[in-house]
Amino acid sequence: MSIELTVNRVKQSVSADPDKPLLWVLREDLRLPGTKFGCGAGLCGACTVLLDGQAIRSCQMPVGSVGSAEITTIEDVASRPAGQHIVAAWEDLDVPQCGYCQAGQIMSATWLLEQMPDPKDEDIDAMMSGNICRCSTYLRIRKAIRQAAT
Ligand code: FES
Repeated sequence: MSIELTVNRVKQSVSADPDKPLLWVLREDLRLPGTKFGCGAGLCGACTVLLDGQAIRSCQMPVGSVGSAEITTIEDVASRPAGQHIVAAWEDLDVPQCGYCQAGQIMSATWLLEQMPDPKDEDIDAMMSGNICRCSTYLRIRKAIRQAAT
């Protein structure tokens, strides 16, 4: 089935089963490997993308349900002012350790700053709690979000 998507500000047509998770359409069909597979069960946040500006788990979203919503992935997050600030802070503070979770972390952090331009530590911890980092870089993640917010 042919499905129309708007990904990173570009309209695209993909031939895919509508039940295929958006994560795999992005990675396999659209060759956007920045969005990562972690658990495949909506629990780790590695696959986070923005759907009309809202952070969602792309492993849980059938591509056929996306409709006309605009998808933003890590490859284009810096086109959003909050994303640009987050990426700059991430680099400045050398946040990642192994780096596997960072695309999802950055997408969630961008969403957070777009909702809440000046978050407190409790807000950051609450809104980022769905993104797991096996290397436990949580303190640097929090610091980077605070820096990006200033
Ligand atoms: Fe989607 Fe873990 S891979 S939440």
